[in-house]
Amino acid sequence: MGHKRKLEFVTPSRRYEIEIGDSLLELSGRWAKKCLGAAAKRVVVVSNLTVYALYGETVTTSLTASGFVVSHWLMKDGERFKTLASAEKLLEFLSHENIQRTDAIIALGGGVVGDLAGFTSAIYLRGIEYFQIPTTLLAMIDSSVGGKTGVNSAFGKNLIGAFHQPKGVLIDIATLETLPQRELTAGFCEMIKHAAISGTALLKKTDELLRKLEFDQNTEFQISNFRSEIAELIAANIAFKTKIVANDERENINKTSPKSRKILNFGHTLGHALEKVTNYRYLKHGEAVGYGILFAAELSKTLDLCGEKDVKLLNDVLHRVGPLPRLANIDEQEVFEAFRSDKKNVAGSLQMILLKGIGKPVIISANEIPHSAIRKVLKRFLQKWS
Ligand SMILES: NC(=O)c1ccc[n+]([C@@H]2O[C@H](COP(=O)([O-])OP(=O)(O)OC[C@H]3O[C@@H](n4cnc5c(N)ncnc54)[C@H](O)[C@@H]3O)[C@@H](O)[C@H]2O)c1
Ligand SMILES: [Zn+2]
Repeated sequence: MGHKRKLEFVTPSRRYEIEIGDSLLELSGRWAKKCLGAAAKRVVVVSNLTVYALYGETVTTSLTASGFVVSHWLMKDGERFKTLASAEKLLEFLSHENIQRTDAIIALGGGVVGDLAGFTSAIYLRGIEYFQIPTTLLAMIDSSVGGKTGVNSAFGKNLIGAFHQPKGVLIDIATLETLPQRELTAGFCEMIKHAAISGTALLKKTDELLRKLEFDQNTEFQISNFRSEIAELIAANIAFKTKIVANDERENINKTSPKSRKILNFGHTLGHALEKVTNYRYLKHGEAVGYGILFAAELSKTLDLCGEKDVKLLNDVLHRVGPLPRLANIDEQEVFEAFRSDKKNVAGSLQMILLKGIGKPVIISANEIPHSAIRKVLKRFLQKWS
């Protein structure tokens, strides 16, 4: 099978296409023209120095060839720059460049660039169009699709944001070849998150690819030999996410069914807490989610929701993504307190996404779980990974 895939994303607010393939950056101009129509004259490429140095010229050349007037704005590289202060600088740039409501933004980069560019597009002139060209595995399968945008603040991660769907998503899998190995690991963790809540078919497919890539301490993922399989798996992940989001675009707080968008937060309760207590500097988001998946599975087992076999299976698959940084010197009390500020709190109670088995997520209020059980599992977990 070739590398090309086309998926459609349909929500109550919008319908857009997600194109997956090889060497698509060269065609980004034609693609943007097709999606935007003739009225758009100007586009602003939002990226960071790292990604722009690699792919900025290809994208800009293609956009210019399709008749756009192109400018670019680059943020500093890193999660800690996904802030209101960066968004404000971008807003000033857009205004200075006289960007109009008929113009558009192109987010070229990972989830940090995509979230910041998407958020700024949502608020500039009360909303202009934007495109996602994700260049990390995590952004390809998760953050570029679904319309959640936002920035971090002193009081927590992603607590300021907006729902704003892109006009289109262009995934050039060739860009994965320059991605550092740790970032691939992080992306695979989010893939396993999808698989754990989707079902055994996706978990098996993910496991098969990870076995082929054969990561071990001495080698690197050899992704260039498996482009077709990677494209297929990315498509399967997006198909799963879009199905969930289509039915619950704005994550209705009252929804507690296993089809709620909330289930996509599986692994994120501990994940976000670990990111917070390590000041967002030690772990990659996806790595923190990797730990979060294992913790949620462990807790599910302790509460007799999920059997030993499924927990082992998740551990085995996660083992294939490459090493996660150890959790030494992490204070259990601090992690526990970080749970409380998690945005999955509804009416004062944390909502935890647990598993009744692979593909069987449940949303449970932490009030219904004895705190002592959470503390016990957490303590054991942090010791095991320290
Ligand atoms: N909006 C959503 O629904 C959603 C979902 C999941 C995650 N997120 C957010 O996504 C962010 C994490 O995204 P991420 O993991 O992509 O991190 P990231 O954007 O920080 O990118 C990781 C690193 O890879 C570099 N990079 C990107 N593409 C590259 C390439 N092709 N070659 C070489 N280097 C490259 C970046 O410069 C960066 O240093 C977090 O802020 C998280 O909150 C959002
Ligand atoms: Zn995530």
